[in-house]
Amino acid sequence: MRPHCEADAADVARFADDPEWARYLPVPSPYGLADAKAFVAAQLGLDAIQHPSWAVEVDEAVVGGINCRFFFEHQLGEIGYSIARSRWGQGLATEVATAIIQQAFTVHRDLQRIRAMADSRNVASLRVLQKLGMTREGVLRRNRVVRGAGIDEVWFGVLRDEWAGRPLVSVEEVNKHDY
Ligand SMILES: CC(C)(COP(=O)(O)OP(=O)(O)OC[C@H]1O[C@@H](n2cnc3c(N)ncnc32)[C@H](O)[C@@H]1OP(=O)(O)O)[C@@H](O)C(=O)NCCC(=O)NCCS
Repeated sequence: MRPHCEADAADVARFADDPEWARYLPVPSPYGLADAKAFVAAQLGLDAIQHPSWAVEVDEAVVGGINCRFFFEHQLGEIGYSIARSRWGQGLATEVATAIIQQAFTVHRDLQRIRAMADSRNVASLRVLQKLGMTREGVLRRNRVVRGAGIDEVWFGVLRDEWAGRPLVSVEEVNKHDY
């Protein structure tokens, strides 16, 4: 993981112009270079403390992104992520989300909770949140409209004590467990 840079737009456009990648995301589809440039510019414009955002790079190509938005007044963080389809199923989302949550709880000593949300049909993302050891807390039915469809949002959360108490295992070991 590393901060975004303007040159990332070409790689982002390559993986984001994919209806499978975009299926559950509120993003333009088709997704062009201008959309990627706007995305990267938006990431560069974020406050690095309040809303850090990283590119996920493998073999010198950007293959995804992850961000954590903090609501410090509520001692709360919220993560979001995506990975290029060519790299799905390799544990990348779980690996980068683990790192971001660990860093968030380490750097921000008052932080009590990290939450995340996925479309109820997005089984891969629901599985990532489960593998992270987050608790499925509830469903907000038709809470958002994406490309004309009402979305049921599944919300997950993990509290500081729960994160601290989870076994320290490698991503490979986490992947072996049936949660
Ligand atoms: C969701 C997403 C980030 C997952 O990334 P990833 O790097 O493939 O995630 P991981 O490899 O860490 O874990 C994915 C898990 O979902 C499982 N999975 C994927 N598709 C599945 C399916 N159709 N049914 C059941 N499980 C599925 C994988 O098998 C894996 O679980 P396992 O390790 O127990 O086998 C990726 O699919 C993505 O970017 N999708 C498009 C954008 C998006 O939806 N972002 C999330 C918004 S909330």
